[in-house]
Amino acid sequence: MRERISPAKTISGSVHLPGDKSISHRYGMLASIAEGTSALRNYSTGADCRSTLECMRALGADIRIDGDVTVEGRGLNGLRAPASELDCGNSGSTMRMLAGLLAAQPFESRLGGDESLSRRPMGRIMAPLEQMGARVEARDGRYPPLTIRGGNVRAIDYTLPVASAQVKSCVLLAGLYAEGQTIVREPMRTRDHTEIALQEFGAEIERSRGAITLTGRPQLRGRDLVVPGDLSSAAFFLVAAQMVADADLTIEGVGLNPTRSRLLDFLAGIGVRLQVLDVQQTGGEIIGNLRVRRSPVRGGSIEGDLTAALIDELPVLAVLGAVSDEGLVVKDAGELRVKETDRIATVADNMARMGVKIETRADGFTVPGKQKFHAAQLDSFGDHRIAMAFSIAALAADGPCEIEGAGAASVSFPEFFDTLRRIAA
Ligand code: S3P
Repeated sequence: MRERISPAKTISGSVHLPGDKSISHRYGMLASIAEGTSALRNYSTGADCRSTLECMRALGADIRIDGDVTVEGRGLNGLRAPASELDCGNSGSTMRMLAGLLAAQPFESRLGGDESLSRRPMGRIMAPLEQMGARVEARDGRYPPLTIRGGNVRAIDYTLPVASAQVKSCVLLAGLYAEGQTIVREPMRTRDHTEIALQEFGAEIERSRGAITLTGRPQLRGRDLVVPGDLSSAAFFLVAAQMVADADLTIEGVGLNPTRSRLLDFLAGIGVRLQVLDVQQTGGEIIGNLRVRRSPVRGGSIEGDLTAALIDELPVLAVLGAVSDEGLVVKDAGELRVKETDRIATVADNMARMGVKIETRADGFTVPGKQKFHAAQLDSFGDHRIAMAFSIAALAADGPCEIEGAGAASVSFPEFFDTLRRIAA
């Protein structure tokens, strides 16, 4: 699918975003192993979160999808062996987190995915799961498909070698089935939706200075939960508002979990005019409305734990860097190389097509400021965040742009192009 994006002068109106991708995955999995019914409102409409639901169905959960998602949970020990390979599609979160659950099941299962997912590293979850007693086989020892021979897992005390919420979640989900306390230590704070969701579904979990302690074999109970709007999807529009001459946009019901909202601190810190309104709590998560207006943006630098916190937003922040006064420097971002695409390479490729300078390094990049975007043929390379980031860049181009493979946006945000057309003029 190819999309044509015309330059825009204004961004205005209000938008409501589909549910947060990270939270949707976790609710879908936990509801399936809880006892009783869960109603999940505003569940992500993206293909990734649908992959999670289909996998849980194949494992025996009874799931109805009609706007909201209703899950009849099977209880902690109620999953059954799937009839065939579980298809995780494009979703690294599905594969890595589900592997944790499967490591503890008394049956063998196989997890596969699309071409992009099949190139992503799985050694990071295999190591702790093997320590817990599961046997995991992978292509060339580290790539999907994975064959998991589960069984009795034992509790471990594990220090994450990479700052990854997916790996942390994988270990915690396996730890649900272990006797005693599973401890995960994280050198850098990563998104904590698993910890919050586990607590909501009734698990006993303690958190203190970089360590998470989960007590195994809890009784999880079905819940009615609302998934907050996805802040990582909101990021595209927060940047869009800085790419045009005039903007005043409200984004409603967005998740503002502090492990994710450092994006807002960063944007406000470099000059973006942002207001956070009507803050509330739901299911242990914080949610609120964002109002963003056009303002001069200074630019800045992202490194260390800030890089980890903004990892999904870096492609669109690179676009913002190019129109900022001083540009953007990103360091410590080697993880970008192993996302849905090598995002340092795919950002640089599209920047070059638009005549925008970027200097890349093994683990980061520098985008000088005050640059102009030129109309070009762009390519998502099958990566949802690249499709959306460069649609935003196209708003500031000197003519219409076309994006090859724009359909990739539906991995996290199928309504993206309709929404963009509604607010951009
Ligand atoms: C996610 C964690 C991040 C992020 C991904 C979703 C999650 O990946 O990039 O889009 O839901 O836990 P890592 O945990 O591998 O950094």
